[in-house]
Amino acid sequence: MARERRNNLTGFTILAKQPSNPAMPTLEQLKVKHPEIRPDFTIDQHWERYGAAEHSVWRTLYERQAEVLPGRACEEFLDGLKRLDLVPDRIPEFARASDRLEQLTGWRVVAVPSLVPDEIFFDHLANRRFPVGQFIRKPEELDYIEEPDVFHDFFGHVPMLAHPVFADYMEAYGKGGQRALNEFHALKNLARLYWYTVEFGLIEKPEGLRIYGSGIVSSRAESIYAVESPSPNRIHFDLERVMRTDYRIDDFQDSYFVIGSFDELFAETYKDFAALYRKLSKGPEYKPGDVLATDRVHHKGTHSYVGGSHKS
Ligand code: PHE
Ligand code: CO
Repeated sequence: MARERRNNLTGFTILAKQPSNPAMPTLEQLKVKHPEIRPDFTIDQHWERYGAAEHSVWRTLYERQAEVLPGRACEEFLDGLKRLDLVPDRIPEFARASDRLEQLTGWRVVAVPSLVPDEIFFDHLANRRFPVGQFIRKPEELDYIEEPDVFHDFFGHVPMLAHPVFADYMEAYGKGGQRALNEFHALKNLARLYWYTVEFGLIEKPEGLRIYGSGIVSSRAESIYAVESPSPNRIHFDLERVMRTDYRIDDFQDSYFVIGSFDELFAETYKDFAALYRKLSKGPEYKPGDVLATDRVHHKGTHSYVGGSHKS
């Protein structure tokens, strides 16, 4: 089985901090392929240009997830899928889906070539626009993407934006990103919060732990691993703990953080982070697999999964 690589799914982690990295092209470079690109990095989706093979990749990925997500993804995510009328047949039309989403929570989806610079990304979120990669991965890349495509960004992220509390959390995150970037220079800490919630978060439900993180719900193998494998730690969410914890971008996570509810997540983060950022500038940093005496542990990982052992 192919190993799943998820480099830089958030769009504002490592690559975005290296302007010289070819994976992070400038607006001028992007103009060659996308002449209409705007200063906020949005492009036209050009839905009519997707071919049958591209819709078919969407269908394959969608059907795989439809098989593994019931009983593993949280009901809020599955509800979002339904309410947005997401269908397996074809890549969604952003304008139509946005009209629906806007009625529900005021969010819209905009097309971008792929990664966008940090300040652009935060400005979109702060204004309730979610940037979605316009392209879709190739058939030989079903389990392997280096940059977020329309399946990760749309299928993975947009259903949760139909949930009112999560929708507010994402806007608050965008505003927090602008402060972290310009005022506190604490992007590393804030990016960890995004990673361990928006991308790889689990939630505790009466039936058991369920997935809400986009990086998990858009990956077949990790959807199973995140909730069923004995290997990773599953630790209750604690804001400071999470912001001190490094993460892996190119393999399954060593630790997942579990929220009790979306209200809990919102309450924990909807406060001024200024004092916390000062505190975080000193003190320990933790490795992805660490377990601390102070952790509330749902499951202590065996770490039996050896990174990259799924490599084909
Ligand atoms: N409360 C954070 C701040 O003061 C902003 C934020 C809200 C960040 C919600 C993440 C999620 O900067
Ligand atoms: Co993502």
